[in-house]
This record gives sequence, C-alpha cells and structure tokens, in this order.
Amino acid sequence: MTIFNEVATDYDQWYATKMGRFVDEVETACAFELFMPQPDQKILDVGCGTGNFSIKLAEKGAMVTGIDVSEEMLSIARNKTGALPITYKNMDLYKLEFEDNTFDAVFSMAAFEFVEFPERALGELFRVLKPGGKLMVGTIHLDSSWGRLYTSEYFQKETVFKHAVFKTLEEMAAYYSETLKQMKECLFLPPDTPEEHISLENELKFSANSRGGFICLLWEKPRV
Ligand SMILES: C[S@@+](CC[C@H](N)C(=O)[O-])C[C@H]1O[C@@H](n2cnc3c(N)ncnc32)[C@H](O)[C@@H]1O
Repeated sequence: MTIFNEVATDYDQWYATKMGRFVDEVETACAFELFMPQPDQKILDVGCGTGNFSIKLAEKGAMVTGIDVSEEMLSIARNKTGALPITYKNMDLYKLEFEDNTFDAVFSMAAFEFVEFPERALGELFRVLKPGGKLMVGTIHLDSSWGRLYTSEYFQKETVFKHAVFKTLEEMAAYYSETLKQMKECLFLPPDTPEEHISLENELKFSANSRGGFICLLWEKPRV
C-alpha cells in the first residue's frame, strides 16, 4: 500500500488550512489524553506518514521509531525531524521487523483507515509491545459526518480514501475487548462548518447531539 507516495508532497498542506489546524488540535488532544506519552519511553509510531505525530511524541521526550510503507512520506518526515531522536523505517504494519516485547508503547494515528484486517494488525502491534504497555489507535469514525464525507462519491473516486476501510467505534472496540481500557470520540464539528464558526466552543456544542468524526481507543497488553 504505497498509495501515499502520490500525495506525499501535498499531504501537510491540510495543516495549513484553518480546518486542518483545528482537526489536528482536537485529534492530538484526544489521543494524548488517552495515551499520555512519557519522557524516555520507547514508542513505535505506526503509519507515521510525514512524521507529524512522531515529532510531537519526540518533543515530549520519547524515543520514537516511525514506520510507514510510503518512502515518499518517510522522506518528508526525515527532512522535518532535525535533531529529534526519531528513527524512520520503511515497514509494513502487518509484518513488523522487531522482536517481541520491544516497545514501551505503540501509537497509530490516521493509519487504521487503510487497514483491511484490524484484528491481524492489532495482533502484530501487541506482539512488539512490552507486557503492561499501552497501544493507542486513532482513526476516522465511519458513523459520523466526517465518515459520511469520506465515503461520498467524490472522495471515493478522486482521493486516497478510495483505498480506505472505515470502521465504527463499536467495530473497533470489539477487537481485543478484554484488554481495551478507554475509548473516546472527538471532532464533533461537521466538515462543512464555515471558517468563522470553527472553534472549540462550537465543537463542544455539537458534541451534545452528534457522534465524533474521529475515535481513539486505548488497549493495555496483559502482564501475564
Ligand atoms: C493518513 S496518513 C497518516 C500519517 C500520520 N500518522 C499522521 O497522522 O499525519 C496514513 C499513513 O499510513 C500509512 N500506511 C497505510 N497502510 C500501511 C501499512 N500497511 N503499513 C505501514 N504504513 C501504512 C500510509 O502510507 C500513510 O503514510
């Protein structure tokens, strides 16, 4: 799945828009509230893309390994990273080239949209996670205004989302449910919100009667 090679140069442009910045702020807050990265932790960032979250994790003091199947995305990540302690590797999340129990924590944002076999993928992430370690997955929520946008005709014909397999919170929560510790919805603001109405205040208002466009789930590997 190297589909992101074609869009790599434009990928970060989303974050230069007002909505892109807002989405990033809301999703980062949601993910970090659950994941709580700690200094000196050895963290695997799965589907790291252009390194946006690898960099945020390293800025919190973690030692990060970012893996992705798109060499173009990784190349942009390497150019952005500077002296931060991040190692990027071209690797498929279904076949991680790491020993069992290697990482203190495993993190993945906006990559499970492209995962066709979540149970197999999660099993592989658990394999490389140390007992007692946390695994956090954040992904677009199918049952939401954002899910409906990305499954609409234009996005399914013209964008990378034609390769996506979106999931609901309930579907994701059914995987390894015995070790699932927390889950949270965010991004309640609909995608067609006019720029002047993009605000945390309106995010809160919409949260009263709609489902979140993005979901974060946190599992913990049993200590056995
Ligand atoms: C939407 S981007 C997200 C990038 C980054 N995590 C972020 O939030 O900005 C999804 C990334 O997942 C990667 N990806 C998709 N399937 C993958 C797989 N099987 N193994 C590793 N990476 C994969 C893609 O190449 C792409 O860079």
